[in-house]
Amino acid sequence: MISNALSAVWARVIFRRHNVKIRNINLGEKPVLLAPMEDVTDQAFRLLCKEFGASMVYSEFVSADALIRNVNRSLEKIRVDDRERPVAIQIYGRDVPSMVEAAKIVESEAHPDILDINFGCPVKKVAGKGAGAGMLRNVPLMLDITREVVKAVSIPVTVKTRLGWDVPSLYAELGMRNEELGIDTHSPAEHSIPHSSFLIPNSKTPFIVELAEQLQDCGIEALTIHGRTRSQMYQGEADWTLIGEVKRNPRMHIPIIGNGDICTAEQAADAFSRYGVDAVMIGRATFGQPWLFKDVRTYLDTGLHDETMTLDWKMDVLKRQVKKSVEYSLREDNALKERKRTELGGIMHVRRHLANSPLFKGIPDFRQTRVKILRAETQEELFALLDEAKERILGIAENR
Ligand SMILES: Cc1cc2nc3c(=O)[nH]c(=O)nc-3n(C[C@H](O)[C@H](O)[C@H](O)COP(=O)(O)O)c2cc1C
Repeated sequence: MISNALSAVWARVIFRRHNVKIRNINLGEKPVLLAPMEDVTDQAFRLLCKEFGASMVYSEFVSADALIRNVNRSLEKIRVDDRERPVAIQIYGRDVPSMVEAAKIVESEAHPDILDINFGCPVKKVAGKGAGAGMLRNVPLMLDITREVVKAVSIPVTVKTRLGWDVPSLYAELGMRNEELGIDTHSPAEHSIPHSSFLIPNSKTPFIVELAEQLQDCGIEALTIHGRTRSQMYQGEADWTLIGEVKRNPRMHIPIIGNGDICTAEQAADAFSRYGVDAVMIGRATFGQPWLFKDVRTYLDTGLHDETMTLDWKMDVLKRQVKKSVEYSLREDNALKERKRTELGGIMHVRRHLANSPLFKGIPDFRQTRVKILRAETQEELFALLDEAKERILGIAENR
């Protein structure tokens, strides 16, 4: 996202500030969203990010099949607290009937503000079975699922996807419809292996530009694009140019949410001004620093960084995150009675956040402490390790 002064000025002229709305959900100006992340964006974390200014938060994805098989177990993932609204619940799956049924369950059991469909997960156990990013190789089925899910629920439906399957397919045409190819879209077995024949190379219009239009025609009310192909997984740099092209397409009228590699307030501002997106979504950069939203929000609103966040304050936030995670894990819930909920469950969930906190970057020989954080089993242990880390940061500051 290296800025080019001229295009930034031009983009500012074209993309004037406005309140971004998904139907009647007002996300305000230049919204900053918390990305859906498996095993990361649980309710405890979502609430913290919300508190620090995230304009909307997403649940980790939930499998449509798992949701249908055992609603009670999945309720934990789709449970919504009013304080986190607006909140989106994300589902993934590989056939129309299960996605429609799962969408209805989510709407009636969890009452989220938005239902998001995942067409971007690159991992083998998902994409290899034709779900998530696997749908990028079976666009007709992707569109059928989207259209039917939109019809099945009354809340707004949104989609999150990637630029394409791989680099050669970035300029592929979407291909023929299933019916033309004689494929039954309602039979999951037919679609367990992604069909590359749906992609015909050498279109002049980027694949994602055409796909975005077609998804919009299916009735979705916002589209998130992660600027990578499925083959890239999480490697290389996110390419925002094609996200910008989707936004510039005059046929698009739904909000376009850009995602990929935003780690700082400046990068978020650049994404808005240079690529004209309606909202940005941040994922990995929030690990161990949910307060990132506070700084990004302040910067977008005032052009200045938030200087109020001291080391003590940040440490308190991390401790609160630990407490919330444990609280969340121990919470009584009829639906969860069958499950053993322990303090350790909450600790295990939060350890990875803490170990990856950018706050600890630059502490010499921190590896040992990081390992201890990843092995800690109680709140007390974690708090002691956080205190130790804090002393070391203060020591470094004093010696400067
Ligand atoms: C640990 C992890 C879990 C993820 N889980 C999901 C998920 O459940 N649903 C989804 O749409 N994307 C998921 N993603 C992708 C992120 O939402 C996001 O698109 C990606 O990390 C790029 O954004 P970033 O560079 O800001 O992290 C996940 C990413 C990570 C690192």
